Amino acid sequence: MHSIGFILGGTLLAAVGLQTSGAAAAVNAAKVDFAKEIQPILEKSCVECHGPQKAKSSLRVDLKADALKGGDTGALLVAGDASKSLLIQVVEGTHAEISRMPKKRDPLTPEQIALLRKWIEQGADWPDAAATEDARLKHWAFKAPTRPELPAAKNQRWVRNPVDAFILAKLDGEKLTPSPEADRTSLLRRLSLDLIGLPPTPQEVEAFLASHPRLDLDVRRKVLQSLDALRRAVKVRSRTWPAATAPGSAASPAREPAAGA
Ligand code: HEC
Repeated sequence: MHSIGFILGGTLLAAVGLQTSGAAAAVNAAKVDFAKEIQPILEKSCVECHGPQKAKSSLRVDLKADALKGGDTGALLVAGDASKSLLIQVVEGTHAEISRMPKKRDPLTPEQIALLRKWIEQGADWPDAAATEDARLKHWAFKAPTRPELPAAKNQRWVRNPVDAFILAKLDGEKLTPSPEADRTSLLRRLSLDLIGLPPTPQEVEAFLASHPRLDLDVRRKVLQSLDALRRAVKVRSRTWPAATAPGSAASPAREPAAGA
């Protein structure tokens, strides 16, 4: 008797077990994936005002515990009941007191709202595995540097060093072509302003044009080197400037022509 009861019970349990796992599988098949489908919506449209930088109405949606606790008004959602959930009311703009969210931005699309509804109806599962680290840690400064692949640039001739390849790829992406190469005078002027903060004197320009009839990579390098040398010299010299320019002193720093530029 005992053993029959045990067997019957066992079979029944097994049958029930089979049924529930079958049903669960069906639901699982269409289950909204929080990390893939919900989190990106929150990150793109909400974290700006409800995250580490700002937490309007004391609501943060980037960290699970804070999000589920909700803001000043209370719980963000009622698992299993989308219509009663504050989250849905605010994105649909049906809450009596709270503005439509995302505030002052385009509303979520009907598809996004449908996803949020479905997720809540399915129990609003927020897996711990999807826990974002504190968004501040996503800042580039916390990421280990990796060497990126060089983008394939169309105009290989324009590329003289790896950095150029990135610039050109970006220009290609915007359908822009690089500006033509600067003439010698502009180049000297730009480099000079850039490196020592002063334009070249007319004599320097003339000397430069006379000594460099053509512009090539070597010329650029030389100009850079001589200006850089000048900059270093100025740095050393500037240590004595405060005395020279003290009130009452007639002396003021005078520019000396760049040697060899
Ligand atoms: C540009 C800023 C901004 C963005 C983006 C934004 N919100 Fe808000 N949110 C606010 C402000 C401000 C309030 C304060 C209430 C008000 O202004 O009506 C608020 C309040 C709320 C509240 C009420 C919190 C409470 O407990 O009182 C919820 C819920 C909310 N937002 C959800 C969202 C969601 C979800 C998104 C993304 C879809 C979002 N917000 C995007 C600014 C923003």
